[in-house]
Amino acid sequence: MSYSDTGDVSASPPIPIGLSLLAADWAALGNAVDVVTAGGADAIHIDVMDGHFVPELTFGRQMVAAIRARTPLPLDVHLMVLNPDRHIEPMIEAGAGLITVHLEASPEPDALRRVLGMIRAGGARAGVALRPLTPAQLLTGLWDALDMVLVMTVEPGYSGQPFRAELLPKVRELAQQAALQPMPPVIGVDGGIDRHTAAPATAAGATYLVAGTSVFGTADPAAALAAVRAAAERGAAATTTPGA
Ligand code: DX5
Ligand code: ZN
Repeated sequence: MSYSDTGDVSASPPIPIGLSLLAADWAALGNAVDVVTAGGADAIHIDVMDGHFVPELTFGRQMVAAIRARTPLPLDVHLMVLNPDRHIEPMIEAGAGLITVHLEASPEPDALRRVLGMIRAGGARAGVALRPLTPAQLLTGLWDALDMVLVMTVEPGYSGQPFRAELLPKVRELAQQAALQPMPPVIGVDGGIDRHTAAPATAAGATYLVAGTSVFGTADPAAALAAVRAAAERGAAATTTPGA
């Protein structure tokens, strides 16, 4: 099975980077996908919003299927929706390789475990995202059901917000807990990642980064992605987090 079939963001370069289309020009999304695919992105991050869990509406499964047809890269689908269970099967059919649900959308641990089980049963990898104020400890007892924890370093809902450095200790704490697991999940960081914030994020133990505005908001997305990647590698080389 090839890398792109697995949706395994942990299987590529030291720190894989997913590109959030939320920050791209929506009138030219196909072109945005082409540019970052050619520019060396490791995954396409698709922010799905339902107008309830967060105020805005964005992409549905037809968009995921259209992007699937456009790039060989793994599709990382970030579900910012209530009732995520309704969307798992359609998103997997559309080509999602990794599906991340919000812990706050399934506050009962049993319900969250069920949704994560649905994702894995469909053949995709299962992630849980945490809003900035959601404590890391709420994942206790769920680690075996997870392939990724996505630490939100902005409030979900909008691209272009500044990175919240006060969340770095949470990244570190989760990276330490992940390292204790028999199959350590990926620690992703989403929100405000750029050439300045990528290094502190990976130094704190992040093993996957999502970037939007810092890449799509520039005249040369491939060069901007390369700068984020270089910073991510610098931070990873300086990490002091055991096991990360
Ligand atoms: C926020 C989204 C993020 C965000 C990333 O709700 O989950 O993926 O769009 O974009 P930047 O990098 O601009 O913060
Ligand atoms: Zn996202």
